[in-house]
Amino acid sequence: MKGIVLAGGKGTRLYPMTKVISKHLLPIYDKPLIYYPLSVLMLASIRDILIISTPEDIPLYKRLLGDGSNLGIKLSYKTQDQPRGIADAFIVGEDFIGDSKVCLILGDNVFYGQDLTKILNNAKTIDDGAVIFGYPVKDASSFGVVEFDENRKVISIEEKPERPKSNYAVPGLYFYDNKVVEIAKNVKPSVRGEIEITSVNNEYLRKGKLNVVLLGRGMAWLDTGTPEGMLKAAEFIEAIQSRQGFYIACLEEIAWRRGFINDQQLKEIGKSLCMTDYGKYILSLLNE
Ligand code: DAU
Repeated sequence: MKGIVLAGGKGTRLYPMTKVISKHLLPIYDKPLIYYPLSVLMLASIRDILIISTPEDIPLYKRLLGDGSNLGIKLSYKTQDQPRGIADAFIVGEDFIGDSKVCLILGDNVFYGQDLTKILNNAKTIDDGAVIFGYPVKDASSFGVVEFDENRKVISIEEKPERPKSNYAVPGLYFYDNKVVEIAKNVKPSVRGEIEITSVNNEYLRKGKLNVVLLGRGMAWLDTGTPEGMLKAAEFIEAIQSRQGFYIACLEEIAWRRGFINDQQLKEIGKSLCMTDYGKYILSLLNE
């Protein structure tokens, strides 16, 4: 399975912070936002990953992450010149996807929870159809929202409904079979002029091929779409890291634990960052 991180868009909701830089490069506590979604793909053992962003920002991502070889993964880059919609990721990424299955994660989505790896590995086994998630939130109106019938069967996904029919929002993490490319190509732009991921999901639903996995309260899905959301996410990460001593989204740790890199490689990265707590943490892993 291949992975895509969609990290483009104009970030207008975060101006002036994002006037000259992609929001996914801004920090959430001690690391750039994009580390968090990238860590999710790595936790799923997805090692062939495409990062999509704007022509202005791609050089910055390349500087930050390179070709991924230091993490034992393969990173490629593609530009999206206009924010045509989330489903555009499959059109921009068509050559990259080839005949594989694909997992898409939005560059501003942060996940943390005990069963995350298990949930990802289950979703990854999909051969025919799609797996998306439903996550309970107080106000779902700014997300894709799952509608259920009286037997809890999913009957539709609505994008940003004024009156949400449930409190289950659809997070920006989606697993698809290879048909997603053709489906995305046939999606008509919505009233806001975007080709919506929700339209793709509804097409899978229409074919009877959409699996919606409901996430429980043990999972944290954090919103980074507003300055307040970014601050709260940073506070959450800080609290977990300082209390437990485990880092969230330390890419080098995940690469090492998954066996993508060996002790020596981890040590070299740790040494190059040893002036920071992040680097000290990496080095400390070798004494476990
Ligand atoms: O976060 C989950 C929600 O993400 C879902 O519940 C919604 O169904 C889905 O439409 C999306 O809603 P948002 O309004 O939050 O999407 P937004 O336009 O903020 O874009 C999400 C990310 O994707 C953001 O990191 C920017 C990036 N993006 C977005 C578009 C439309 C791109 O890179 N290119 C694009 O064309």
